[in-house]
Amino acid sequence: MHPAQPVFDPAHAMGLPTDSPLVLGPMLRYVGETSATVWAQTAEHSVVTVTAGDREWSAPTFRVREGHYALVVADGLPVGSDVEYQLRVDGRRVWPEPDSPYPHPRLRTLDHDRPTRLAFGSCRVSEPHDARANKKNGVDALRTLALALVRGDEEWPDLMAFLGDQVYADWTSDEMRDFIASKRDIDEDPGVEIKDYEEYAHLYWLAWSDPANRWLLSTLPSCMIFDDHDIRDDWNTSWTWHEQINRTRWWHDRLVGGLASYWVYQHIGNLAPDELAADEIYARVLEHAAARDAGPSGMRDQDELDLTDAVFDLVERVDRHPEVYRWSYRRDLGDCRLVVVDSRAARVLEPERRSMLDEQEQRWLDEQLTGDVDHLLIGTSLPFLLPPGLHDFEAIDEVTAQGAYGRPLAAVGEKIRQVVDLEHWAAFNDGFEAVFDMVMDVARGNRGRAPATVTFLSGDVHNSYVAHVTDAAARHGARSTIVQAVCSPIRNPMPMALRVLMSGMAKSLVKPMNAWARRSKRVPDPAYPWTVTHGPWYDNCFAELNVQGPDLVVVWRGGEVRGGDDENPALTTVAEVKIAGSR
Ligand SMILES: [Fe+2]
Repeated sequence: MHPAQPVFDPAHAMGLPTDSPLVLGPMLRYVGETSATVWAQTAEHSVVTVTAGDREWSAPTFRVREGHYALVVADGLPVGSDVEYQLRVDGRRVWPEPDSPYPHPRLRTLDHDRPTRLAFGSCRVSEPHDARANKKNGVDALRTLALALVRGDEEWPDLMAFLGDQVYADWTSDEMRDFIASKRDIDEDPGVEIKDYEEYAHLYWLAWSDPANRWLLSTLPSCMIFDDHDIRDDWNTSWTWHEQINRTRWWHDRLVGGLASYWVYQHIGNLAPDELAADEIYARVLEHAAARDAGPSGMRDQDELDLTDAVFDLVERVDRHPEVYRWSYRRDLGDCRLVVVDSRAARVLEPERRSMLDEQEQRWLDEQLTGDVDHLLIGTSLPFLLPPGLHDFEAIDEVTAQGAYGRPLAAVGEKIRQVVDLEHWAAFNDGFEAVFDMVMDVARGNRGRAPATVTFLSGDVHNSYVAHVTDAAARHGARSTIVQAVCSPIRNPMPMALRVLMSGMAKSLVKPMNAWARRSKRVPDPAYPWTVTHGPWYDNCFAELNVQGPDLVVVWRGGEVRGGDDENPALTTVAEVKIAGSR
């Protein structure tokens, strides 16, 4: 499965291939029961068409900087469709590629009567798949899934949820560095980190263009949410962090380039057709396409809509006022509701009103967290329930950095916060307690029938585990099982030394940390404690969540090189956990 190497035009600002009208994608993104969206990046202004059977759907490209993009909405599909599709650019078939060794890509829509099978994972560096890179980064679990699906060794998930760090803007591969060095002086800031939108475009191309993953993403629906590395390690950790980085000359271009490219490459594919129509920026794409369709045929060649100013204006506003735009979204999957929460850009950092979620975001989340569904899934890049020892440590650090023990210690607390990444929900205690109260309200049956489980799905921490809220919640009236399932990394293993500490935070250090936290009246004691019941595991992996009536079975799957065949890893099972829901 070695396709020809792409041809690059060195003059292209984004360093993208020029030998095909299709640059990146197609990616099958949103799926409902009767509709699907397909995203693509093209080389030129063009019309992108999806055909399946005797149906076809088209969208003209829009432009952001030097990139041309289209999101085609395929609607009117039968419930639970599973049909082959093709992609055309200006009438020319570009996908599947003529000599593709992969199965034909398919449009797969949901069937709410079928038990949900949801894959999820996070943290994936974009490195090659040879022996050298596998030795350094481990095997790419996503690509291993692709190969297993090609071989027919694996059941198809309905949807893949990518829960953060889809790209690493601050930790670049040799390929990315070569591209950066071809454009600018890497001795000047931000060095080998991503500088702007154009470099992000190249980064996304590297992340999603290797043949097996590209095929997988063209035929497996996906939803996504950013985490810090999509922008930068520790993004929005604290007000001090925010102030420090805003004093650099390079940060502004990086942030707006990162958020603008996130909107284009990740966010719009999360939205259902009606949400696209309601989106203040995407509505312009639809209006432009409608005017084109309604006009005389000569209008079909009219200028491409240039969204650059609109998208960059949006992200400038988002940077100053996070509440003006919502990156979070919700998907109804039949037996499950999946609510995906932005735990990075919606943060309020001002020390006097520090919160994980701004007011609007918190109100929106409150409205989404309801019962009358078998399983309520809450996707948040950062684990809501950390290993208890780490939770206590972050809570202690938050009150210390806020000045509870005086200014000298506050500076030490801030330093530790930034160096050791103490910036999860535990380090934003007000938001943590508010969301826990919402969840308890759902679990008590105050918002419709109590779900069998309320399950947080997360990544970020480079280890995987399951944590259960203890019986204390039931004693306070909770009827749902409340649980945290973490899957991280898809490909970016944790250094050995840190694994010992992380295991301690889940086990041996729990009691000492709790004793330390309890000694201080200022450190809040969680009202409903939890324990890590399974894990941690440190393998590169993705997870599969299978609904089985009131229960969930979660299986973590990794990849293993056998017989020195680095290009064709085998799928392995890292762990399997049955989460018993309430009956
Ligand atoms: Fe992260």
